[in-house]
Parts: sequence; structure tokens; C-alpha cells
Amino acid sequence: MTDTQSSASGSLPTKRVLIGATGSVASIKVPALARSIIQQGQAQGVRIEIAVAASNSALHFFRREQLPEADVTLYTDKDEWSQWKKIGDPVLHIELRKWADICVIAPLDANTMAKVANGFCDNLLTCVLRAWDMTKPRIVCPAMNPMMWEHPITAAQTATLDSLGFTVVSPISKTLACGDIGMGAMAEPEIIAKAVVMQLVPSAADAAAQ
Ligand SMILES: Cc1cc2nc3c(=O)[nH]c(=O)nc-3n(C[C@H](O)[C@H](O)[C@H](O)COP(=O)(O)O)c2cc1C
Repeated sequence: MTDTQSSASGSLPTKRVLIGATGSVASIKVPALARSIIQQGQAQGVRIEIAVAASNSALHFFRREQLPEADVTLYTDKDEWSQWKKIGDPVLHIELRKWADICVIAPLDANTMAKVANGFCDNLLTCVLRAWDMTKPRIVCPAMNPMMWEHPITAAQTATLDSLGFTVVSPISKTLACGDIGMGAMAEPEIIAKAVVMQLVPSAADAAAQ
């Protein structure tokens, strides 16, 4: 984790994005999301560094090598504990919270949605979110089976996340990996990347509004 706000590779200002990845099959799109955020940032004159905090379930859906090599670091629950040995050592979830300018949970699966909406923090990602600096933006991108999405608990938890200041990027309707058709697929990476960059670069949001 670097601690600079100026770009090592040029004079572009640097912004830092934490991607949270959970155990939805949509985590196969995490590498594409990271690429899209970097590209859309560059198009707005900003260099973007990314940290991916992946749950253990998320790791079934993508590999470290699939992430862009430059400017992207993957963190897992193992890192949380391997980096802390004694009092005084840095605590990874606190360091990540300080480091990031924004977090985007993509995909947000039903399990982590329930945990975040209720304040549970039993892994690296949910600890970062529980310790989040509420002055910094936060985005969630739910992804789940249509029956899970239509379950009444989802609306209740989505409303809670909304009231906690999370921007909810709604899922889309399509044939899911399980074969079911309906609402619940994660929004496309380019749409999510646009939501992230618009929060980080006010001029991008102004241009989109015109
Ligand atoms: C192949 C597969 C695909 C899954 N896809 C989803 C999904 O799209 N959305 C969801 O909410 N859960 C999905 N699950 C279930 C989650 O992986 C499970 O609830 C897990 O405990 C989530 O852990 P996490 O929230 O810590 O990542 C899937 C499970 C499997 C085995």
C-alpha cells in the first residue's frame, strides 16, 4: 500500500479506490471492473490505484493474475492476520480505510449485504466497511439470484444501506449463471466504473449532467 497522492508515473493526480468483492458469481467481473475504473479515470485525467479486498468466497471466481498488474493490489482475510503479529503493527482493515478515497462493493452478495446492513464485521472487507470514514463515498452493487433479490429482506436491507449513505447501483435483469431469468445480475462493469469516477472527479459528474 503506497501513501502518496501524486503519481509516480507522471503528473496526474492520484485517487485510491477500494473494490470489495464477495461470493457472487459476478466476481468473475472484478478484473474487468478494475480495468474499467483505471481507464475511465485516465480519460478524466486521474491516475487510479486500486486495492481489492476479497472475501474467501469471492476468491473462487477470479485469480490474482487476472487483475491488472500495475496499480492493483489484492488483499484477503489471510493478509489481515499475516500482517499483524504484535501490538503496534498496522491493522490492515484500518490502513485500507485510511488509504481509500472511495469504496465500491462489486459484487455485493446477499450474505455480505445482510452483514453490512446490520453492522457485522467478521472478515477483512466487512471490517473495513464497519470502520469506514462516513465522510468518504461508498457504493454497493448487489448481485444475486432473482428470488433472493425479490425476497422482502432485500428491500429492507437495501433501504438500510441507502439510509447509511451507500449509493446503490441497481442490478439488471438477464439470464443468470444459474439459468434463472430476472432481476439480480450485477450492473455492467463500465456502468459501475462510471459511478465510481463520477464520485471521484466532480468534473466528470458535471459533464454527465449536461
Ligand atoms: C457458484 C456459486 C455462485 C454464487 N453466486 C451468488 C450470487 O450471485 N449472489 C449471492 O448472494 N450469493 C451467491 N452465492 C452464495 C455465496 O457465495 C455465499 O452466500 C457465501 O457464503 C458468501 O460469502 P461472502 O459474503 O463472505 O462472500 C453463490 C455460491 C456459489 C457456490
